[in-house]
Amino acid sequence: MHNPARRNGLIVASNRLPMTLTHGADGSYHFEPGSGGLVTALLPVLRDRGGIWAGWAGLTDNVENLDEILQQATQRAGYRLKPVLLTEDERRKFYHGFSNEIVWPLFHDLQSLCHFDPSYWQVYQSVNRKYAQSIAHETGDDDFIWVHDYHLMNVAMELRRLKVTAKMAFFLHIPFPSLDIFVKLPWRFQLLRALLEFDLIGFQTLRDRRNFVECVRNLVDDAKVHGKGQVLGITIGARLVRIGSFPVSIDFNGFVKRASAQEVTDKAAELKAFLPNRQLILGVDRLDYTKGIPYRLEAFRNVLQRYPQLRERVTLIQVVVPSREDIPQYHGLKTEIERLVGEINGQFTRPGGWVPIHYIFRSLKRSDLLAYYRAAEIALITPLKDGMNLVAKEYCTCSIEEDCVLILSEFAGAAAQLHKGALMVNPYDIEGMADAIHSAFMMDKEERRERMHRLRRSIREQDIFWWVDAFLSAAIAKDLSAFPLPEDYVPNNEPDYAFDLPRH
Ligand code: ADP
Ligand code: F6P
Repeated sequence: MHNPARRNGLIVASNRLPMTLTHGADGSYHFEPGSGGLVTALLPVLRDRGGIWAGWAGLTDNVENLDEILQQATQRAGYRLKPVLLTEDERRKFYHGFSNEIVWPLFHDLQSLCHFDPSYWQVYQSVNRKYAQSIAHETGDDDFIWVHDYHLMNVAMELRRLKVTAKMAFFLHIPFPSLDIFVKLPWRFQLLRALLEFDLIGFQTLRDRRNFVECVRNLVDDAKVHGKGQVLGITIGARLVRIGSFPVSIDFNGFVKRASAQEVTDKAAELKAFLPNRQLILGVDRLDYTKGIPYRLEAFRNVLQRYPQLRERVTLIQVVVPSREDIPQYHGLKTEIERLVGEINGQFTRPGGWVPIHYIFRSLKRSDLLAYYRAAEIALITPLKDGMNLVAKEYCTCSIEEDCVLILSEFAGAAAQLHKGALMVNPYDIEGMADAIHSAFMMDKEERRERMHRLRRSIREQDIFWWVDAFLSAAIAKDLSAFPLPEDYVPNNEPDYAFDLPRH
C-alpha cells in the first residue's frame, strides 16, 4: 500500500489544502488562498523544506484531472499537493459536524454549543481513515508524517492499521481543554487512545499540555507520565509518546519585508489620510464565536460613553473574514455583529463626519491586510479563548516603527509569550477592556516603543522556523532531558491560563 521507495520526506496533512479550488462561471477552476492560522504557519515551512501536503481541495464534486490541476498550481512552489476527496455527506458530518459542532466548541470551553450527534463520530472515523489511506499511499518508511489539528486526531491509529511504520507527529493548533470539560465528550476514551498512537504530540502552551496529561492520567489506566522538562514522555507498554508545547508563530522576516513594500506603505498612508486626526483601532478575526467580537464592540461603545473625549479621536476598523457560515451559530453571530455595529454607529455618528466603526466583512488581499496592520495605532485582539492567535503576532511584526499598542486577551495562547509587552484584558470584562483602550490611546511614545520592541524581539526570536526546528528536534531527540523547561518555570504549579493571571 505505502511507498517504501521514498526517503526522509516531510508529509504534512491537514483538513484543507492551503488553497481552495472553486468553480468559475465558465466552468473553469480557480484557486483562492486559504485563510486561518494553520495555513499562515505552514506555508513558509513547506516552501522552505519541500514535501507533500495532503488535504481536502475545497470541492465535493468530481473534478477530472484534479491531481494535474493541483500540480500546475504548485509547479514552482517547491512542494506537492495531494488531494483527499470527500463527498457532500462526509464534509457535512466530518467538518461541519464532528470537527466544528463538537470538538471546536468543546475545546474552546463552550460545551453548551456542542451538538453530540453519534452519526458525526461514525463519519469522523471513516474520513480520518480516508486521510490515512491517502497519506499511506505517499509514505516511505523513512518519511516523517506531520498531522495538523483537531480534524485529524484519529489518523495515526488508522495509519498503524495500514502498517505504516514512518514516524508520526501531531500538532494541535487549538487549545486542549481541562479534564472537567474533556470528560463530557462521549468518545473521550477512543479519542485519547487514538492521539496516543502518534510518536509526538505538540500543543501551543504549557497549559494545553498540562490539560492533556491530566486527561491521560485520569482516563488511560495503562499510561505512565515521565519527565519534567519541556517535552514529557508517556509510556503505554513498550511505546513512548512524546508530549511538548511549541507555540506556533509566523515568518517574521517575510512579514517585515512585505509590510515594508512601497505598495503597502502607500496604502497605509492613504488610509491615514482618509481618516485623519485620530488613532485607528484594529480588530481582525475570522467570523467565529470564540473571537469575542460582540464583547469587544460593547467595550468600544463603553469607552465612547465613559471617556467622551475619545469621540472623533478614535475609529475602530473591524475586519471579519467569512468562515463556516453553514453552521447555524456562525450565521447567528454575523447577525449579532451587524446589529451591534449598526446600533453603535447610530448612537455616535456625526452626520457628514465621524463614523465610529468601519466594518469590513470579506477576505482581504494580503497587501490590504498589511496596510491595516501598519496604519492602526492600536490592535484590539480579545478572543474568549484561542489556541494561539497569529493576528496578534502579525500586527506586532508589521509595526515597523514600533509606535503601536497591542491589547490582548488573557485567554489567547499568544498571551503566554506576549503578556509582558501587551496590555492584557479579560475579554468578558467590558469596562476593563474600555479602560485598556483608553490607556492605549493615552500611552506615550516611549512606553509604546519599549513595549512594542519587546514584543517584536520575542516574535523574531521564536518565529515559524524556530517552531519547526523545535518540533522536529523533539521528534528525533534521543534524550528528552535535552529539552529543559524555561528558567522561570515552577514545577507542579503550571498556570491555569497561558500565563499567571493578575492577583489582587
Ligand atoms: P484562526 O486560525 O482561528 O483563524 P489566527 O489569528 O491564528 O486565527 O489566524 C488567522 C490568519 O488568517 C492570520 O494569519 C491572518 O493573516 C489571516 N487572515 C485574517 N484576516 C484575513 C483576511 N481578511 N484575508 C485573508 N487572510 C486573513
Ligand atoms: O486554527 C484553527 C483552524 O481550524 C485551522 O485549522 C484553520 O486554519 C482555521 O482555523 C480556519 O478554519 P476553517 O478551515 O474551518 O475555515
